[in-house]
Amino acid sequence: MTVAIHFSQRLYDTLGPESFSREDQDDDGVFYRKPRLVAHLDPIALATVQRVIATLVVEPQPAILDLMASLDSHLPESLTPGKVVGLGLNAVELERNPALDERVVQDLNRDPCLPFEDETFDVVLNTVSVEYLTKPVEVFAEVARVLKPGGLHLVILSNRMFSTKAVKIWCDSTEKERVWLVEDYFTHVTEAYHKPQIFSSQGKVRSADDHYAERGIPSDPVFAVYADKRGGSGDRPPRPEIPSELGDPVDPDELARRKQQLSKTLACPYCQEPFTKLDLEQSPFLEWDLDFVYVCLNNRCSYYVTSWDEMRAQGNIGFSCRLLYDPVRDRCHPTPDVGGQTDLKGRLSPRG
Ligand SMILES: C[S@@+](CC[C@H](N)C(=O)[O-])C[C@H]1O[C@@H](n2cnc3c(N)ncnc32)[C@H](O)[C@@H]1O
Repeated sequence: MTVAIHFSQRLYDTLGPESFSREDQDDDGVFYRKPRLVAHLDPIALATVQRVIATLVVEPQPAILDLMASLDSHLPESLTPGKVVGLGLNAVELERNPALDERVVQDLNRDPCLPFEDETFDVVLNTVSVEYLTKPVEVFAEVARVLKPGGLHLVILSNRMFSTKAVKIWCDSTEKERVWLVEDYFTHVTEAYHKPQIFSSQGKVRSADDHYAERGIPSDPVFAVYADKRGGSGDRPPRPEIPSELGDPVDPDELARRKQQLSKTLACPYCQEPFTKLDLEQSPFLEWDLDFVYVCLNNRCSYYVTSWDEMRAQGNIGFSCRLLYDPVRDRCHPTPDVGGQTDLKGRLSPRG
């Protein structure tokens, strides 16, 4: 017997049907006829995807549905699934995916009904593909139907896409708005899911051998929006929160206290890593009145990581700021850093 999962059309009514149109309105089977045997994220971002899955999937030997699957399901080695089913649009991509036990080729925009019994899966993954769904709420309702009670629907998104195939609302939205949109997809499946949770990882430095490492852009951002289906968690352990990569935010009073102690600690007040001392190159064009400064070069420092976003908001894409400590004036200020360089010598900007 198929359980009815109720969903609301209000999202489509509010946003207008054109929001879910695409530049390329052809049948998706045409676009995906050619296999794309490529990685859709850089290696640093892919490691984050695996960490998210490793943290959230706590079921022993889970039955997993990889929705909109291709040649890699990004399952961590620590995970021993009972079975993995992949549903996508290209048979060659699915065939190349070693994690899959079963493969289904289906166009979800033509037919959002999933070809599985009610309550079949412990986990449904959808990685960097939700932007291609023209009937997302119907698909999210179907995912709720095929999930076991307490099962996990995990949607992972980033900012790369085949833009002609992504829905208009996605192309017109900022990264934050896309996260909120996916949250809306969950909440329009009325009463099926618990409140969605959000995780974000941004501003990581690309590995040195990355094709784009020299271009000064950080690793692809990774966002996860996920929710458990209501109705019990069976025998599984509680689902943990994904630990923040930045640690807990520093209390403002504690931050002020640490800033007062800088001349003694010579440690970053945000992450508490020791500062690095940098000798300054004197130049007739720069007005440094210092021989050296201190800079926090920790690539995981919250000050540095969150600055990518702040700089982007100001139109400075590919820039972040590191915290510089001026020991003469006993004062901190930001210094721009392009592309996550860890050797800022000779490239620091003076401040009066
Ligand atoms: C960017 S790839 C991501 C693949 C995979 N999830 C990953 O993480 O590498 C997008 C995938 O979405 C699938 N897809 C796109 N449109 C689809 C549709 N209408 N129905 C089913 N799958 C679709 C394609 O098969 C394609 O492999």
